[in-house]
Amino acid sequence: FVPPSAGGGGAGQPAKDANGNDIKKGEWLKTHLPGDYSLTQGLKGDATYLIVKQDGSLTDFGLNAVCTHLGCVVPWNKAENKFKCPCHGSQYNADGKVIRGPAPLSLALAHVVVTDSDVVTFTPWTEADFRTGQNPPWWK
Ligand code: FES
Repeated sequence: FVPPSAGGGGAGQPAKDANGNDIKKGEWLKTHLPGDYSLTQGLKGDATYLIVKQDGSLTDFGLNAVCTHLGCVVPWNKAENKFKCPCHGSQYNADGKVIRGPAPLSLALAHVVVTDSDVVTFTPWTEADFRTGQNPPWWK
């Protein structure tokens, strides 16, 4: 096991909140309740959803919010439990799998790894896409 980098170089990168601060898991989960989907700054600066599961823990994957059609940031629709792109109507399920076009592909994944100092980091997801089985995944 190789501990993830705390930031800067290396493959891992701290998730940043709207103010540009590193996200700490403990603090985050005080204000982000089960079922929460919030945008953070992820790998390469891409808007990335950090998701709180129904049991109150973080999912081990983040979802890149950039629509695979023409790149709009896709909002989470809590009432319908899916993502709906405002630009041309593409839809993705709660795991980011595309369920309606014109988007051709599911939202890209990133691993969520929490460091010993409780910092939430994203690392590149290079393995198979668990939603589609595609291996390697399209974003790799
Ligand atoms: Fe999202 Fe076109 S950019 S549907």
